[in-house]
Amino acid sequence: AGLHALAKAAGKLYFGTATDNPELTDQPYVAILNNTQMFGQITAANSMKWDATEPEQGVFTFTQGDQIAALATNDGRLLRGHNCVWHEQLPSWVTSGTFTAAEVTSIIETHCSTLVGHYKGKVYSWDVVNEPFNDDGTFGQDVFFNALGEDYIAIALRAAKAADPNAKVYINDFNIEGTGVKATAMKNLITSLKSQGVPIDGVGLQCHFIVGEVPTTLEENMREFAALGVEVAITELDVRMTLPETAALLEQQKADYQTVISACQAVPQCVGITVWDFTDKFSWVPGAFAGQGGACPWDENLVRKPAFDGIVAGF
Ligand code: G3I
Repeated sequence: AGLHALAKAAGKLYFGTATDNPELTDQPYVAILNNTQMFGQITAANSMKWDATEPEQGVFTFTQGDQIAALATNDGRLLRGHNCVWHEQLPSWVTSGTFTAAEVTSIIETHCSTLVGHYKGKVYSWDVVNEPFNDDGTFGQDVFFNALGEDYIAIALRAAKAADPNAKVYINDFNIEGTGVKATAMKNLITSLKSQGVPIDGVGLQCHFIVGEVPTTLEENMREFAALGVEVAITELDVRMTLPETAALLEQQKADYQTVISACQAVPQCVGITVWDFTDKFSWVPGAFAGQGGACPWDENLVRKPAFDGIVAGF
């Protein structure tokens, strides 16, 4: 059976994958991507980001994002929107302009409402705010925070929710998968937003892990988020290693994937799991970490690795 079919049978909403437009010319890849039993949810790895969708102020381009959205929605699959506000992959007009606080507010509102509004009715959940925290739990000092302080987060969440009331609005981050200062900062933020009546439906745990280093508190941490009244999703799962792959590393990676799926399985509010692309052929890891890779459940030749069986075992 496919991974999505297994996820559904286990009571989850979806098992999905990220994908990117240049990959869609690879026919063997697309054959797996389009197997709706395998992947019941799609995320655009790049083409819904700010630099792709509003490259000049007030000029919106959705062609690439629409291609990814159609992959999902034409097949009745779920779409996760990624993302509205993030300090990376911003066009230079955002990062190098000099704007007042009122102007930054308007820029965030226009971007979020136009982007989310364009995909209204097609998106299950949006990563409205991506990666707001430093690893020590302080807020990142980006163009949005520097103008508005943490208020930018509420501004973005309200604008996104107003543009598509049926889409769940999430905050998504990494290194919040286990308990610790950064996860605590996210919990405090969620509590604060809820107390102010700001819409917040979910927290995305990215889960870009290293073989043998899945946090032992993953399940406990998910329960703590859920106790705040939000749902949880595993939004960008991969498990990288220092190359070359060995049989021992691949076995540990299999166990790691199983651990992550089992943790989601154990927490009812964990709605689904997304891998950050399914094949090492298109993984972001080698481009970001020299000498590392092998992070995905399919290898560079689109052959399933032990990690695939780990996912199956986790369900
Ligand atoms: O579009 C240009 C292309 O014109 C140029 O020829 C090429 C040469 O390097 O670069 C292309 O841009 C790349 C872009 O992906 C599109 O492929 C950037 O260099 C590259 O840095 C960018 O990487 C993306 C990364 O986000 C940026 O931070 C990855 O594909 C994407 O998978 C990754 O995804 C992020 C999530 O959004 C947030 N969480 C972490 C995750 C992994 O970094």
